[in-house]
Amino acid sequence: MKSLKEHTTDVLIIGSGAAGLSLALRLSDNLNITILSKSSINEGSTLYAQGGIAAVFNKSDSISSHINDTLKAGVGICDPEIVEFVVSNASHCIKWLENQGVSFDTEESLDSNIAHYRLAREGGHSYRRILHVSDATGMAIETALVKKLSTHPRVKVLEYCQAIDLIISNHVRWSGSKRVLGAYIWNRAKEEVELYQSNTIVLATGGASKVYQYTTNPEISSGDGIAMAWRAGCRVANLEFNQFHPTCLFHPKEHNFLLTEALRGEGAYLCRSDGSRFMTKFDVRAELAPRDIVTRGIDCEMKRLGMDCMYLDLTHWSKNFLSQRFPTIYNKLLTVNIDPTCQFIPIVPAAHYTCGGIVVDKHGKTDLEGLYAIGEVSYTGLHGANRLASNSLLECLVYSWSAAENISHHISTTSKVCQIPPWNINWFNDPDEKLILRNIEHELRSFMWNYVGIIRTKKRLERAQHRIELLHNEISRYYSDFRFSKHLLEVRNLIQVSELIIKSALQRKESRGLHFILDYPNMEVDTFPTILEP
Ligand code: FAD
Ligand code: SIN
Repeated sequence: MKSLKEHTTDVLIIGSGAAGLSLALRLSDNLNITILSKSSINEGSTLYAQGGIAAVFNKSDSISSHINDTLKAGVGICDPEIVEFVVSNASHCIKWLENQGVSFDTEESLDSNIAHYRLAREGGHSYRRILHVSDATGMAIETALVKKLSTHPRVKVLEYCQAIDLIISNHVRWSGSKRVLGAYIWNRAKEEVELYQSNTIVLATGGASKVYQYTTNPEISSGDGIAMAWRAGCRVANLEFNQFHPTCLFHPKEHNFLLTEALRGEGAYLCRSDGSRFMTKFDVRAELAPRDIVTRGIDCEMKRLGMDCMYLDLTHWSKNFLSQRFPTIYNKLLTVNIDPTCQFIPIVPAAHYTCGGIVVDKHGKTDLEGLYAIGEVSYTGLHGANRLASNSLLECLVYSWSAAENISHHISTTSKVCQIPPWNINWFNDPDEKLILRNIEHELRSFMWNYVGIIRTKKRLERAQHRIELLHNEISRYYSDFRFSKHLLEVRNLIQVSELIIKSALQRKESRGLHFILDYPNMEVDTFPTILEP
């Protein structure tokens, strides 16, 4: 047994993407903030976001149209109050982001010399309403926020520090209500467990798309926040709704490179290897139908023809337009020897976004006092059964603002509140451990892809449930006996979140949005979010 190195902070923010960094900036005038990042500070889905942020800035557009498009994409189970809340708070959050140093693309309007945002169009949107910074919007946001925070005297950033679990009041002698008190951290550089005490903890750990074999997400998206919150006693919701992005580059060396939907917004086509289009037979909106429909169209065509991929055709564009509007994509394709001005681009759908998550209220408050969740880790009610493109970064911004308002009004100072039990470090080192963990991860991600993927059946889900029970037992033994590693902690969380996804998918006895199950192909009339209670 060993007592742990202890730290105290006013607010502990776990995660350094758009959600976590925006919140830190909004709170840091009056509070001491610690940000944990399990990798380098800028690594996370935010960095790779291409398309942009949806908000109403076009004169012919309206808040009600953005609300309607969001509700329509969410197929009847968005929370209308939350949709209105997010959409109508978009413009001041965009202005705030610009004040932090993000410059969205602009163009001069035809009738005046005044510059306006150059708005892009994406699937499911009735108007051009996507603000962007060429095709690297996420990088522009992440870089600006990191720069703003890097010299801030009240913000401490700890990179390569991975939260393991939350400490809650019923783990120790504590007379108050059930609340969060701190978190156990794996300091990867020192290879030690440390303890952070804080009365206010914010999970901003991103999504869980890494449960799937093929994903557009970076390595960090292992659902850690969802798993930690569940173990601490929070409810989670709608985890059966995993969004698969229709167009991930299909290439043996580039596994998770996205080809933004904005390409289709500008007129790129989906086609078979002979160049013939197919989306028109699935939906009148063709390539610009919401993602669930486009993804199923591609999946269906690949299966029907026994092909490994479909294609994106932008050969009708000039090199000039392509290299100026989509420089990141153009250059990446050239590095893998695809010249998109004269070749079709091979694409496959891949897991992209976790629509469900930790249940929160309008301020990002979870079921545990003092614990908040914002960004992709949370379930707010905005996305329903399918997220509308470019509404995710918007949700990160709006909830970091509303959580900041709430935290600054209700913060209770953190003092050293409790005696935390010492940590058992009687660990074994097993030379085979790395290999076994790799095998477990591989097995998990491949059966999640095959049995819990784009098209589901009850039988496949039950098979996946059986397999996950075995893996759960195996990883629990590893967790208690073997030396920690980033990989072990992540695999434990991947298994936990997969179990919740399967459980949620088995509960929904209908097909809706991203959850398509052959045994129940129709939509029920009365339906609700799937809420799991610990
Ligand atoms: P992230 O940006 O994923 O950050 C998560 C952070 O949590 C990271 O810093 C990570 O290190 C940290 N973390 C995780 N677990 C732990 C732990 N245990 N301990 C410590 N730290 C931890 N959405 C849009 O709206 N528009 C787009 O154009 C768009 N394009 C996208 C393109 C790609 C390729 C991808 C993958 C996603 C895209 N999305 C887009 C979705 C959007 O980018 C994400 O939903 C959003 O950026 C999530 O932000 P976040 O702050 O919640 O999490
Ligand atoms: C994209 O650029 O296609 C991704 C946009 C999103 O995920 O919202």
